[in-house]
Amino acid sequence: MGLNTKLGVLASGRGSNFQAIQKEIEAGTLDAEIAVLISDRAQAPALEIAAAHGIDAHALPYDKNNREAFERAAGDLLEQAGCEWIVLAGFMRILTPYFINRFAGRILNIHPSLLPDFKGLHPQRQALEAGVKTSGCTVHLVTQDLDAGPIITQSEVPVLENDTEETLAARILVQEHRAYPEAIRILQKKREEG
Ligand code: GAR
Repeated sequence: MGLNTKLGVLASGRGSNFQAIQKEIEAGTLDAEIAVLISDRAQAPALEIAAAHGIDAHALPYDKNNREAFERAAGDLLEQAGCEWIVLAGFMRILTPYFINRFAGRILNIHPSLLPDFKGLHPQRQALEAGVKTSGCTVHLVTQDLDAGPIITQSEVPVLENDTEETLAARILVQEHRAYPEAIRILQKKREEG
């Protein structure tokens, strides 16, 4: 990656991971640029964050009976913007093989558990139900298997006695905001080393 690494972000909601990445870019601690942000939800706060930072942002219609239509339009925008890496930041849709193949090995995801534990929905609830003492977050490359691609980095947090899904999620989120920029730096370094 290196200088002017162009990132494209897909986000469905709040956008705090997207914001954390943008903050590091603006602070000069991450050598990259978010070239475009795309959401499947017109109401996503992530779109407002993008606008506030002057980032090109698009809400595209999502039809769950024709998932490829969204993916084709998103893929065209990402390519037109020259994105090398696609960053899933709270993107709550499962990508089809069409999109995963189109950007093979170039899609990153963050998941709020220590994968391979607690894949899929409500990972913090799953962690509490399993009674684990440690949880955390994982940044990984996206492959056809849900939440199972090669791990780039993980960060641990303790699970406390009185934790609720919300308190655990908040503790993990603090680590997510550090882990995602770090994962991008790790990939940049790997690329430089060839
Ligand atoms: C984050 O906790 C992220 O790890 C999770 O959604 C949240 C999005 O927050 N993603 C998943 O669960 C993906 N399966 P954000 O919109 O503030 O970044």
